[in-house]
Formats: sequence, structure tokens, C-alpha cells
Amino acid sequence: IYTDGRRNSKGINLNINSQFQPLLNEMKPFLERTYSAGPLVGFELDHESSERHDVICPWDHGRTIGSVRWSSAEETSRAIDVAWKAFPDWNDTPVEKRAAILERFADLMEKHMAELMAMCCMEGGKLLPDGVAEVREAVDFCRYYAARAREIFGAPTPLPGPTGESNELIMQGKGVFTTISPWNFPIAIFCGQTVAAAVAGNTVLAKPAEQTSLIAHRVIELLYEAGMPREVVQLLPGDGATVGSVLSSDRRITGVAFTGSTQTAQLINRSLAARDNAALPTLIAETGGLNAMIVDSTALPEQVVADVVESSYQSAGQRCSALRVLYVQEDIAERVIETLKGAMVELNIGDPTRLATDVGPVIDEEARKGLQAHIDRLKSEGRLIAETAIDADTAASGTFIAPTAFRIDGIDALDTEQFGPILHVATFKANEIDQVIDIINERGYGLTFGVHSRNETFTNHVASRIRVGNVYVNRNIIGAVVGVQPFGGQGFSGTGPKAGGPHYLLRFANEKTRTINT
Ligand code: NAD
Ligand code: ALA
Repeated sequence: IYTDGRRNSKGINLNINSQFQPLLNEMKPFLERTYSAGPLVGFELDHESSERHDVICPWDHGRTIGSVRWSSAEETSRAIDVAWKAFPDWNDTPVEKRAAILERFADLMEKHMAELMAMCCMEGGKLLPDGVAEVREAVDFCRYYAARAREIFGAPTPLPGPTGESNELIMQGKGVFTTISPWNFPIAIFCGQTVAAAVAGNTVLAKPAEQTSLIAHRVIELLYEAGMPREVVQLLPGDGATVGSVLSSDRRITGVAFTGSTQTAQLINRSLAARDNAALPTLIAETGGLNAMIVDSTALPEQVVADVVESSYQSAGQRCSALRVLYVQEDIAERVIETLKGAMVELNIGDPTRLATDVGPVIDEEARKGLQAHIDRLKSEGRLIAETAIDADTAASGTFIAPTAFRIDGIDALDTEQFGPILHVATFKANEIDQVIDIINERGYGLTFGVHSRNETFTNHVASRIRVGNVYVNRNIIGAVVGVQPFGGQGFSGTGPKAGGPHYLLRFANEKTRTINT
């Protein structure tokens, strides 16, 4: 399907070169730059108080792109003091002023798009289209939450009452929030969580993923340039076991907005619950998925395969929304699988700055090893359908995993999410559809899901029964758009509310009813 030029699922030629060449030219100086990062806090730092960690480019292990100093336990605790003291004044700051900072921040990210994309590429291994989408999504989060904040935190809502009494409902921040983010959306998710907490009136301690601290540092510098006070949003880079766990175990933390693996969310949940003398906390957790797609015999195999390839292999499969298990009705399974094999041959793996590259690296050696162990096991069981070729020089230069597809019996054969370019394919008979839906539901994840069919009764039935946060019909299952496809799951996949949706900010807020005897 990619042989006559690059086409998206609607058959539109993407014309990648003409779209990205000017941006690539702008990015070039930043691809050579080295960066230095560390905590950004509302007090004077002792710069020698903890060691620095080198940051290595995931697709060129010969390149050290900078270093980051992780926050010490003492700095983390002092940052919580600062956030605690700053909360009352920030919470009283008019929402118009808070929202305007987010809008200036969005403008600044657009202005620095080339640099931010270069950093996503060098530190996060992102391809250029993914880099554009990353910055765009962060900008969209800022503008969307600014607009929602004005509606929610603006004028109080008048309530009915007897003569001589006035009643109103006021929305305010909750207190000190920790935001903990993953490396796979180092700008979009990191910014989305942090600005949502802040615009709702909370002070924020932002802990980025260890792997993408340089990007987080640059983004917070831009947030300060946009006018965010340093004591309101503080950046605390560091590892999960030390910095992350202090930030979710201190009794002054009112809430945690977390995005990452289901296992880490469960640890944070336990840590929050174990605190003595702490108010009942808020936990917003957006976690992993074992996302499936069901394809019946009326579906168009070429469209199915285009959408499967995008959903499974774009961003090297390192999206929580990515497709992990494809269920195809037996009658068309061989045709879908043959078309899939043809498409996989066409994928190019390698350097993310090359415009022809389809699949970049996975984030680090630990990720590569885990994925490779899963691949080796399925290969040893004779389940391989197809594997894209990868040349030896590319494989040696960084942490690459070639896209693969394997036959399995069903989703219940998988222990956990495999966060990389690995697709599993199962088949079903026409009379087994409800059984397949039950098995997917019982597996317990509930993030994204796809259904491909030209039978509307079938798509409506499947879409209604499946227990997930985002259902996509006759298209790919990745790339939710802020304000258009509010994103987030249920079950093992998260608590809600949905990021980029109308209710997200409410979870960062307390409601206060004010009754005045007039
Ligand atoms: P991870 O759980 O390993 O780490 C996420 C963050 O948690 C990092 O900042 C890490 O330092 C921190 N952390 C680790 N241990 C901690 C602890 N004990 N206490 C506090 N913080 C701790 O996840 P990851 O590998 O960075 O990201 C990939 C995962 O994120 C995948 O499972 C993916 O599905 C999920 N994800 C979900 C969404 C969504 O919206 N649902 C979006 C992106 C990624
Ligand atoms: N929101 C991201 C997507 O939909 C994770 O792919």
C-alpha cells in the first residue's frame, strides 16, 4: 500500500518531503546543540547537591546530547514547602490572569517549534510528523484548558434560595498537585497535566520522566517566560523511586495527576493511601492499554491494513493508544495477513531526521531488551507472521526494534502491554463475536479500540458492548485530538476524567457553596 507514494488511510498522498523540508531546515542548528537541565524551583539552589546524568540519543549512541541533575530529597521537600505557601495567593489570582499565562505559553511553544521538535527527535527519538503533533497537542491543551478555566472558575454559579438569602457555587483549586509524566509524550502530556492543575488554582510540582528531562526543562523555561511564577510550577527531575515517591507520599500533597504504566499508578495509589494525617487525596491516573481491533468479513482489507500499520507501528508502537491485538474474522484473515505482510516490507526503520523514515528507535536499552525477549519467545513458539528488515548498521547505532506481527489465540494470551512495534493477530468465526468482546472486556484494560466493518448493525453492536474509553470505527485508533476526541480509559487503563475533554479541569477543583444572609 505504500508502493505508489505514501498514502494515509483515506488514500491521500502525504507528500512528506514538501511538508517537512522547511521545518527540518529550521531544526538543523538545534540538532547539534547540547543542553543542561536540573530542578527549576522557587528557592535558591545548591547546584552541587546531587549528581548529573548524561543523556544519550536513542538512535545514535555516539551522541551525548546533554546532562541533567536530578533533584535531591531535600530539594524535593523544600519545593513542597514553597508550593504549600504559594497556594492561597495563586488560588485567589483571577482566572483571567492564570488563563492568559497558558495562552502566552502556547504562543511561545509555537514560536520555538523547531527547537522543541529537534529536542523530541534527539532525546525522545521522535520522527518529524510525531514532533509536529507533539508540539501542536501541547499548544491545543493550553488554549483549550484556558478557555474551559474561564467558564469554570470565572463568575460563581448563582443558586436558588429563599428571600433574604443568596446562594452561589464557587470553584477553586484543591491545593498542591504533583504531576508525573511519561517519556512518550514529553511535551504534550507533561504540559497538559501541569497547566491543567495550575490554571485550576493549584500549585504544581512537575516530575518529568527520567528519559526526557531536557525537554521538560526547556518547556518550563518557556512557561516562566510566559509569566508563570516560579513558586507556582516547580520542575523536579529525578527517578520514580526517589523523587516520584516523595512527591506522592508527603502529607501536604492534595492530588496526583499521573500518566504512565498501570503498575506505577498502583504504587502511587498505595503510597497516597498509606499517608498518616493526610486529607483524602485525588488521583487522576492515565495508564496503559492492551488495545484491540475487530475486523469482520465485510471490511475493506486495504483500508484495514493501512489503519493497522499506522495504529501498531507509528511512533514505533510507543503510544498508549497503539493497537496490540487484531481480531480478524476467519473468512478474510488470509487476505488481510497477506496485505499486511506486503505493507510491512515497505516500512523504513532508522534515523528519525530522515524524511523517508517510518519507524524510529524505542526509547532506551531497557525497553529494547524487554521487547526483544517477548519477540524471541513468540518466535520460538513458531508464531511469527512477518518482520520488517532492519540493516545491521542501523541496528548497531541505537535502540531499534523492527516491526513484527505474530499469530496468537487471543488477548488473554498476553500478560501485559508490550510498549513497542509488536502486533498480535487472532482470528474468530462469525458466531464468536460476543465471546471475543467478552474476552477483551474481561482482560480488564479499556483504553482504545477499533472496529472495521461495512455493516452498521455490527459496528454499533460492537462499539456499544466494548468497555473502553475511545472507540474508533473504520479508521486508525491513535492520535486523539484535544477537544474533539477527549482521551482516557477505564479499568486498568485509568481513572478518568478524559484529557482534552470538558470535564478534565473539574477533577482539579473543589466546589464551595457560599450562603449569605442578606
Ligand atoms: P512509567 O510508569 O515507568 O513511568 C511514568 C512516570 O512515573 C515517570 O515519570 C516515572 O519516573 C514515574 N515513576 C516511576 N515509579 C514511580 C513511583 N514509585 N512513584 C512515583 N512516580 C514513579 O511509564 P513510562 O515507561 O514512562 O511510560 C509508558 C507507559 O505510559 C505505558 O504503559 C503507556 O501505556 C502509558 N501511557 C499512558 C497514557 C494515557 O494517556 N493513558 C499516555 C502515555 C503513556
Ligand atoms: N492521545 C494519544 C493518542 O491518542 C496518546 O494517540
